[in-house]
Amino acid sequence: INKGYGTTGLSKMRLRALPKAFIQPPEKRSSSMIRASSQASGDTIPIIDMSKAEAAELICEAAEKWGFFQVINHGVPAVLMSDVMHAARRFLGQAAEEKRRFLKENTSCSNVVYMTSFFAEAEKGLEWSDYLSMNFVSEEEAYAFWPAISKDATIEYLKSSNTLIKRVLKILMNKLNANELDETNQTRRIQFNYYPISPTPDLSVGVRSHSDVSLLTVLLQDDVGGLHVRREIDSKGDEWVQVKPVAESLVINIGDFLEIMSNGIYKSVEHCVVSNGNIDRMSIPIFVGLQNSPTIGPLPEVLATGKKAEYKEVVFSDYIKYFLNKPLDGKSTLKLAK
Ligand code: SIN
Ligand code: FE2
Repeated sequence: INKGYGTTGLSKMRLRALPKAFIQPPEKRSSSMIRASSQASGDTIPIIDMSKAEAAELICEAAEKWGFFQVINHGVPAVLMSDVMHAARRFLGQAAEEKRRFLKENTSCSNVVYMTSFFAEAEKGLEWSDYLSMNFVSEEEAYAFWPAISKDATIEYLKSSNTLIKRVLKILMNKLNANELDETNQTRRIQFNYYPISPTPDLSVGVRSHSDVSLLTVLLQDDVGGLHVRREIDSKGDEWVQVKPVAESLVINIGDFLEIMSNGIYKSVEHCVVSNGNIDRMSIPIFVGLQNSPTIGPLPEVLATGKKAEYKEVVFSDYIKYFLNKPLDGKSTLKLAK
């Protein structure tokens, strides 16, 4: 794993059994978790047409009820979406020697890292996926350090999707009667996720259940599917609902920061990716984050209505550090703010 072969390399060997290091403990096996869930309501994740007048209302409603929605007619050109998918495939499809240059110990820029699993050091059961993470600091740095084979399309896509990101954030802030968030105080990280075919999909996971540590996340997924979202139904237990691929759509989900800042009005919900035994999958999330602000807590505008604070003010760097130094584990990071 550590030599850049990753799960991609292991998968190419057409192993008949999943290597031991990737076997999930029974309680973390997302496919059985999803099968066991009630799936009672039959509800599906909202698909919102951003060219319609009611889009703003529907976005806020979905952010409150689901924490997840898909958007169509969102203004990001289909050709840029397809270009960045091809760019990701070009990078991930290279020989291990090429990808190895971006492993943590080799990379010439700490903002570009190629990895397997989220926190391999402490995971009992690694995730069956490889990814390239690119934290966008400046165009100059991106052109200098991102992999040449994919950087042009990636930077173009990132620039184009920023208009959508700003629009969605503005809509969500408006509903809270809060000021627009300052873009200079935000971060953008884009990731190429690759989920190889698993020899035994029931024993492995693509991504363990977690909530995102972000303001929001914008995800481009291919047509394979596998992303599931948890929905709490009071009396009947939980339900896991798949985010079904919709051509030319983007998936948007609320992250922990917005849940805390909105005092729980917007929900940062758990989601996971199941492994697939027949076909590989790719996805490209953009994580919209915050710069190292001193603390994070409910917005004053939200509490101005006399509402009690449901979250406390936490030290921002503590929050990030806690999240990054343990395996993905549901909504455990959010408890820091409770
Ligand atoms: C993630 O939530 O970390 C990945 C989502 C996806 O690949 O669909
Ligand atoms: Fe996620």
